[in-house]
Amino acid sequence: MKKVDLGGLSVSAVCLGAMNFGTSTDEKNSFEVLDAFVGHGGNFIDTSNNYAHWLGTGDESETTLGKWLKLRGNRDKLVIATKVGFDRHGKGQGLKKEQIEYWIDESLRKLNTDYVDVYYAHTDDPYTPLEETMGAFDSLVRKGKVRVIAASNYDVWRFMDANRIAKERGYATFKAMQQRYTYLWSSAACPPKYKFNEFTSRERLRFLCDRKLPLVAYSCLAGGGYVNKARFPEDYVLGKRYEVLIKTAQDKGVSPVALVVAWLTNLYRMKDYPTVIPLFSSSGVKHFVESLSGCEMALSDEEMKTLTEA
Ligand SMILES: NC(=O)c1ccc[n+]([C@@H]2O[C@H](COP(=O)([O-])OP(=O)(O)OC[C@H]3O[C@@H](n4cnc5c(N)ncnc54)[C@H](OP(=O)(O)O)[C@@H]3O)[C@@H](O)[C@H]2O)c1
Repeated sequence: MKKVDLGGLSVSAVCLGAMNFGTSTDEKNSFEVLDAFVGHGGNFIDTSNNYAHWLGTGDESETTLGKWLKLRGNRDKLVIATKVGFDRHGKGQGLKKEQIEYWIDESLRKLNTDYVDVYYAHTDDPYTPLEETMGAFDSLVRKGKVRVIAASNYDVWRFMDANRIAKERGYATFKAMQQRYTYLWSSAACPPKYKFNEFTSRERLRFLCDRKLPLVAYSCLAGGGYVNKARFPEDYVLGKRYEVLIKTAQDKGVSPVALVVAWLTNLYRMKDYPTVIPLFSSSGVKHFVESLSGCEMALSDEEMKTLTEA
């Protein structure tokens, strides 16, 4: 599988999301999807210290991934990303120094590892000074517990402020942004389901392109909507863009889900778009491999133009 740069790390062009592993996806299916991903050359895996607490305790995803890493003995071949800062049953929210220091050790314990490759601030904490948060992340990098830091669900201006403050103090800076993004646009008139769950705007894309920072695009399969329209989140705008996607998929004889993955991994070829790393998952290996086939799909300049400009 093609690799791309994320803050000096070589990561696969797509990222596997482990959010439901150990909760709605049982251990057997989780391990099969993980094995299929690695078998296809993937190395970039995404989890969090609070996944999926709405279905369990919040430890299940990291614990399941940690068990698989230990059994397979492949930790050093993988790029493991986890996160801190979100709520877990009323605990854990925020990015104060002591919270970051506590939760990294919890993540390392659950993941059966002594370092995390990419450590995300899961969402902004407006009540803690950015100096404190960035200083705490920097000290984890200096201690070797974390290799690269990144941020998810930040407003662009807060992300910029955080990196400016870090740079002024000689601290590590955020090297990627993880945000909700897919082929279809979200209606600006429709608020996101959760306040944090902001869809990637054109401005955000131009910002990342200008700063040469990758976008890790979460929920990029739109809940399975490309296969079953009823599953699209209600804020997605279908219309002509959706028809162009379906027609292009039919003409090429490929699945629309795979085509979305292919389009995302090729977006860097288009003006004003950054490197986009689609982050997706599945509860079973069949769907997952179908989506993954998008990584190997060739898209001509004409196809990219048609899909992008629809
Ligand atoms: N940073 C954040 O705040 C944040 C928020 C949400 C998610 N994430 C990350 O993003 C990852 C993915 O998020 P997500 O689960 O919301 O979205 P997703 O991966 O885009 O969508 C998952 C859904 O798509 C379906 N699907 C996948 N492949 C399919 C196929 N080939 N055909 C039909 N349906 C298919 C799955 O159903 P089946 O299970 O039936 O295949 C599942 O319902 C998570 O695991 C997590 O790592 C991050």
